[in-house]
Amino acid sequence: MNHEPFEKNSLILLIGILIMVSIGGIVQIAPLYWIDSTIEKVKGMRPYTPLEQAGRDIYIREGCYGCHSQMIRTLRDEVERYGHYSLAAESMYDHPFQWGSKRTGPDLARVGGKYSDQWQADHMINPRSVVPESIMPGYPWLAKTPANIEGTEVRLKTLRAVGVPYTDEMVKTARADFAAQAAPESRAARDLARRYPKAKTVKVDGKQIEGTTELEALIAYLQVLGTLVDFATFDASGPNLR
Ligand code: HEC
Repeated sequence: MNHEPFEKNSLILLIGILIMVSIGGIVQIAPLYWIDSTIEKVKGMRPYTPLEQAGRDIYIREGCYGCHSQMIRTLRDEVERYGHYSLAAESMYDHPFQWGSKRTGPDLARVGGKYSDQWQADHMINPRSVVPESIMPGYPWLAKTPANIEGTEVRLKTLRAVGVPYTDEMVKTARADFAAQAAPESRAARDLARRYPKAKTVKVDGKQIEGTTELEALIAYLQVLGTLVDFATFDASGPNLR
């Protein structure tokens, strides 16, 4: 092609660039107007239980994200250390997401089930009691502070307003579910697991106060992280996407 005019006249060159860049822009941006969501749905993902959600709020309040990320990158060293790389769907119900930007401590995206509830409790109260060289601060007051059950329904309704699919039943039973998750082997705990598959109850010895504590809420949250998608059967090429 004869491109001499483009090279000699900067205005023609500019118009040429604008046309090329707009084609690229249209190809990337236009489809976003026709697809429902940019996040591929993945089997197993569900909204947080009321207690997990309360624990998540404590995680944010205490600034845990200042030292911990929740996003495993696709790089080999990360995958070998932390497990399967994070999927967009795994934080689709997070408002706001906790990907983080700094790691003083390890990534927590798949910490659920890695330790027992009791380990998590001891570690939160005094990290040095289980990891002698730890520089993480202790959060002993969480064990002495009742978790805020009052705000449960409002919390769920607010999240529903921004797209988290909590049903009317879930909102109605929010307080019962909240208490049930810290009451292992109760009948209510079985109902909880029916509404929220894979929901695990929290059991901590030597409780310092009556009722559900902030420590239990935080542990419920930590223990669910990364456990909802079954990576033994997950296949990123498609069949497992819902
Ligand atoms: C000043 C930085 C800092 C802050 C703030 C912090 N952590 Fe940590 N955390 C660490 C470090 C360092 C480790 C690794 C040593 C250890 O296990 O204690 C760690 C380890 C952990 C682990 C164990 C992870 C694993 O895979 O072994 C969990 C769980 C955890 N932190 C949760 C929390 C939570 C929840 C909060 C907020 C309440 C928090 N951390 C706040 C620095 C921090």
